[in-house]
Amino acid sequence: MKFSSPLGLAALASCAAALDVDLESPAAIKAAAKTIAANLYTYYQGDKPGMTPGILPGPPPAGDYYWWEGGAMWGTLIDYWHFTQDTTYNNVSEASMVFQAGAPNYCYMPANVTMSLGNDDQGFWGLSAMLAAEVNFQNPPAGQPQWLALAQAVWNTQAAPDRHDDSCGGGLRWQIPLANNGYNYKNSIANGIFFNMGARLARYTDNATYAQVAEDTWNWVWGVGFMSSDYDIYDGAHVDFNCTDISKAQFSYNAAVYLQGAAFMYNYTNGSAVWKDRVQKLTDRTIKVFFPDDIAVELSCELTSSIQCTTDMLSFKGYLHRWLAATTQIAPFIKDTVMATLKKSATAAMTSCDTNGVCGFRWTTGNYDGNTGAGQEMNALAALLSLLIDEPYVKPPLTNTTGATSVGNPNAGMGGTGVGTGGNSKAITGADRAGAGILTALTLSSLMAACVWLASDMSEHGRWHSWKE
Ligand SMILES: *[C@@H]1O[C@H](CO)[C@@H](O)[C@H](O)[C@H]1NC(C)=O
Ligand SMILES: *[C@@H]1O[C@H](CO)[C@@H](O)[C@H](O)[C@H]1NC(C)=O
Ligand SMILES: *[C@@H]1O[C@H](CO)[C@@H](O)[C@H](O)[C@H]1NC(C)=O
Ligand SMILES: *[C@@H]1O[C@H](CO)[C@@H](O)[C@H](O)[C@H]1NC(C)=O
Ligand SMILES: *[C@@H]1O[C@H](CO)[C@@H](O)[C@H](O)[C@H]1NC(C)=O
Ligand SMILES: *[C@@H]1O[C@H](CO)[C@@H](O)[C@H](O)[C@H]1NC(C)=O
Ligand SMILES: *[C@@H]1O[C@H](CO)[C@@H](O)[C@H](O)[C@H]1NC(C)=O
Repeated sequence: MKFSSPLGLAALASCAAALDVDLESPAAIKAAAKTIAANLYTYYQGDKPGMTPGILPGPPPAGDYYWWEGGAMWGTLIDYWHFTQDTTYNNVSEASMVFQAGAPNYCYMPANVTMSLGNDDQGFWGLSAMLAAEVNFQNPPAGQPQWLALAQAVWNTQAAPDRHDDSCGGGLRWQIPLANNGYNYKNSIANGIFFNMGARLARYTDNATYAQVAEDTWNWVWGVGFMSSDYDIYDGAHVDFNCTDISKAQFSYNAAVYLQGAAFMYNYTNGSAVWKDRVQKLTDRTIKVFFPDDIAVELSCELTSSIQCTTDMLSFKGYLHRWLAATTQIAPFIKDTVMATLKKSATAAMTSCDTNGVCGFRWTTGNYDGNTGAGQEMNALAALLSLLIDEPYVKPPLTNTTGATSVGNPNAGMGGTGVGTGGNSKAITGADRAGAGILTALTLSSLMAACVWLASDMSEHGRWHSWKE
C-alpha cells in the first residue's frame, strides 16, 4: 500500500471517512440525499447530443444498463422529490417517462427494446408511472400520456389473454416476444410486478377487477411454488418442465414487490385478516433473509468472498428500501418493525459512501468498497429517503378520491390511443381490437425476422439470472 500523501495518518483516516450525515436531522438527510442524487444523475447521458432521452447508457454492449433501469431511476427520482420536495429532477423525470412510453399505444413497449423486452422490464416503467399517480407528481400536459393511464396500459397489456397460457397452470412468462431467450421462463418478478400494480390500481381506482386479478396472480405464484410456505420467494422456472425446475435464488426486489403489493391488498380490503397475515409473514421473512444484522444484503450475489451481482442486481437494495418504506404507510401495523430495520440499514449504507457521496455496494464493512454505479447510488439514495417518511408533507399514496389528479383510461394500451386526456377516450370496438392485433402481429413478425441472427447474442447471460447457467 502506498500513500501519495506524506501524512500517512491523515490518509488512513480519510480511507475510513464516510459521508458525514446526522440521521437524526431531516435537514442533514436532505442535504446528503441531494449530493447522492446529483451523483446518480451523472450516470444519465440522455440529455447529451446523439444520446437517447430517458434511458441510462446501454443496453449492453452499448453501455452498462438495460432499458428498464432508466424507468427504475425515474421512479427513484420521483420518490426523491416526494420525500425532499426538491424539484431539480422533476422536468427531466416527466419528459423521460413520456418519451419512453412508446407511441402510439403508450404502454412501455417502445419498438427499440423489443428484442430484450420482458414483462418485468415493461413493469418497472409501469411501477414508476403508478408511483407518479399516487404521489401526485406533476402531470404531463393534456394530449400527452398521463401517469394513471400509463399504469393501466401496462396492466391491461399484461392482463390480456395473449400474455397468459396454460403452461405451469397460468402466470406471465418472463419475456414478451416469443423469439426472445427467456420466453420459456416464468418468474417471480414479472408476476410480482403485475400483482403489485393490480393491488395499487384497485386501491387507486376502487375497481375490484384489478384486485381479483391480483389475488389470482398471488394464488398462482403460491400454487406453483415460487413462494414457499416460509414466504421465501424463488426466482422462477421453465415451462419445459411445467415450472417444476425452480431456481431457488432469492432476490430482494421480489420480496419487496410482493410485500408492498400485499400491503396494498391489505389496505384496499380495509384490513382483511388474510392479507394482514401475509403482510406480517412477508415482513418477518424479508427482514430475516435480506437484513442480517439489520443491514440490507443482496444475498444471492453479495457473497462474503466476492460480489457476483450483475448490473441489474446491483440496484435491487434500493427497491427493497423504497418499497418497504412505502409499505409502512398503508400497513401501519408493521411500521415500527420495518422502520427500525431500515434506519440501521441506512446508517450502514452511509458508511459505504465516500465523503463526496460516491457510494459502494457492500454496506456491511463500514467502508467504501469502490464498487459504484447508478444502482449503487440509487440504493444509498433510497436508504436515506426512507428515513424522511414522517416529514409532514410526505403523504401516503393517494387515490382517485383522496386528492390524486392523474387522469386514467381503463382501456389504455388496448389498441385505443392509450392517452388519458381527460375523459375523451373512445370505446374500443371489435374492429379496433382486430386492427391492433394485426399490427402487433406484423410488428412482431418483422422484428422476429430481424431477431433470428441476433438470437445467439441475446442470451440470458448478464441479465436477471445469469448465475443459473
Ligand atoms: C420545469 O418546466 C416548467 C414548465 O416548462 C418551467 O416553468 C420550470 O422552470 C422548469 N423547472 C426547472 C427546474 O427547470
Ligand atoms: C430508438 O432508437 C433511435 C436510434 O437510436 C433513437 O433515435 C430513438 O430516440 C429511440 N427511441 C426511443 C423511444 O428510445
Ligand atoms: C403443471 O403445473 C401446474 C401448476 O403447478 C399444475 O396445476 C398442473 O397439474 C401441472 N401439469 C402437469 C401435467 O403436471
Ligand atoms: C375496472 O377495471 C377493468 C379492468 O381494466 C375494466 O375492464 C373496467 O371497465 C373497469 N371498471 C370501471 C367502472 O372503470
Ligand atoms: C372498505 O370500506 C369502505 C368504506 O366503508 C367501503 O366503501 C369499501 O367498499 C370497502 N372496501 C372493500 C374492498 O371491502
Ligand atoms: C390504509 O392506508 C391509510 C393511509 O392511506 C392508513 O391511514 C390506514 O390506516 C390504512 N388502513 C389500514 C387498515 O391499515
Ligand atoms: C374517480 O373515479 C370515479 C369512478 O370511476 C370517476 O367517476 C371520477 O371521475 C374519478 N375522479 C377523478 C378525479 O378522476
